[in-house]
Amino acid sequence: MDATQDSLSSTTPRRRRPVRRTLLLVVGSLLLLVILAVGGLGTWIAVSFANARVDTVGEVDFDRVLAVPRLAESRVEPDGTRVFSLRMQEGESDLGGERPTPTWGFAGAYLGPTLRATRGEKVRVEVTNGLSEPSTVHWHGMHLPPEMDGGPHQMVEPGTTWSPHWVIDQPATTLWYHPHPHGATASHVRRGLAGMFLLDDPADSAGGRVGAALPHRYGVDDVPLVVQDVRLDDDGRIDDQESLFSSVGALGDRVLVNGTPGPYDEVTAQRTRYRLLNASTARTYTFAFSDRREFALVGTDGGLVERPVSLDQIVLTPGERAEIVVTMEPGDRTVLRSEPLPDRFGGGSRFTGDDDRLDVLELRAADRLDPSPPLPRRLAPPPDVDPSDAVRTRTFQVSSNAINGRRMDMGRIDAQVEDGSTEIWDVSSGDGGLHNFHVHDVQFRVVSVGGRTPPVDERGWKDTVPVRPGDPVRLAVRFDLPPGASGAPGGAPYMFHCHLLRHEDSGAMGQFVVVPPGQGSDTATAPPTPTTAHTH
Ligand code: C2O
Ligand code: CU
Repeated sequence: MDATQDSLSSTTPRRRRPVRRTLLLVVGSLLLLVILAVGGLGTWIAVSFANARVDTVGEVDFDRVLAVPRLAESRVEPDGTRVFSLRMQEGESDLGGERPTPTWGFAGAYLGPTLRATRGEKVRVEVTNGLSEPSTVHWHGMHLPPEMDGGPHQMVEPGTTWSPHWVIDQPATTLWYHPHPHGATASHVRRGLAGMFLLDDPADSAGGRVGAALPHRYGVDDVPLVVQDVRLDDDGRIDDQESLFSSVGALGDRVLVNGTPGPYDEVTAQRTRYRLLNASTARTYTFAFSDRREFALVGTDGGLVERPVSLDQIVLTPGERAEIVVTMEPGDRTVLRSEPLPDRFGGGSRFTGDDDRLDVLELRAADRLDPSPPLPRRLAPPPDVDPSDAVRTRTFQVSSNAINGRRMDMGRIDAQVEDGSTEIWDVSSGDGGLHNFHVHDVQFRVVSVGGRTPPVDERGWKDTVPVRPGDPVRLAVRFDLPPGASGAPGGAPYMFHCHLLRHEDSGAMGQFVVVPPGQGSDTATAPPTPTTAHTH
């Protein structure tokens, strides 16, 4: 029998008092410990909170000229197919750290060349995996057969080549490509595997006149901006540690544009079109100029907008693109920045980077600028998907590791949609956090956000939309089998997912197939799809 039990059974005050004292002492020290622990934790949280905010405004030297990804070479085969080659490889890059950074790239050490093709053209891309692990290449925003999509079902083993081919069958726009291996997309993209894929349409709605009136000299007055954030450790390696409180994944503390740290762009024309791509894995940018100058939004993910829209700020979540036209006077200077996330995004969490301010790119106008024509008043017809044609409504609740409470399963089809049909997809945040939603193969129309008309920058064709907590997004999506796709049962599926890549990797992804009319269904009924690697 130990002293405590003894004392509890005892009734003699003489023996009780020391026990009570001991108890008091024990309880007291425990309390003290708790107070200290809570205090320490509090301090630690306060320090982490203070450190979590990144502010590089005024601290970037802008001493390197902006690199512009080269246009990928291609050859045209006798049947008219345009053929590109892309090799995924390892290398080293100067990302502004103390030492060279080990990176991955396409046909180079970091990022990849810009692919460019014209509506109606047949293309083939010979994708060779020169890495030491399997990966894929997905054509983000492209309308193409599911076997060519480069999602997690089209893994390319090291040392092999995969050659998807399709016909370009959509309006002129700014797409991009990046790996999509299930569970590892964030790490492959963060190491540098990303590139632009531009589409042209010489017969646009005005017989090619719109494209000709917009700035269109690649690398001169039509410049891609692949924007990424990165954090480097002392050895110059990319640090993908996530802050303990971050729910979005690893955030960087410096910005690269086309892989250039601290870049400036020498502006030589009155008007320059910048094709902005948020190629970050986790960070949402609120782009604005240091002098609050206005710019014209001319294109969104899937094509030109109806007419140029004047804005002084634009928010892009990971994966989204915007084409903007900036007008400069000779000798002008301004800095493209990322500002704190506007309140309407409802986040406001310091640990998800919402409070951060980042210098991105300095624009320096030359003393003489090439004249540019005024912007056309009308650019393209508005998205012609009519929500009243919808044959089905599906709802998607996105959380950080699941959609509708289900985690991604390569063997489960989550939706069977019918060829030629329009559906309403209602998407909301299921956990109070900011997400976004990307659907493969299609460009859709945003019908409403939080029950209201969508903001001006979400009225054109989109393939990725922000999903703000409390503001459900209603999409009207038309599914058409692309040329060359059969819709036969058992074919490869397309993906839909959150493009905050940590969420995608953790399971916030689902699969859909496009099937012949009459065979659609609401939920998972299809048998598991074979997941063989398509390597030739
Ligand atoms: Cu940009 Cu499914 O990806
Ligand atoms: Cu998400």
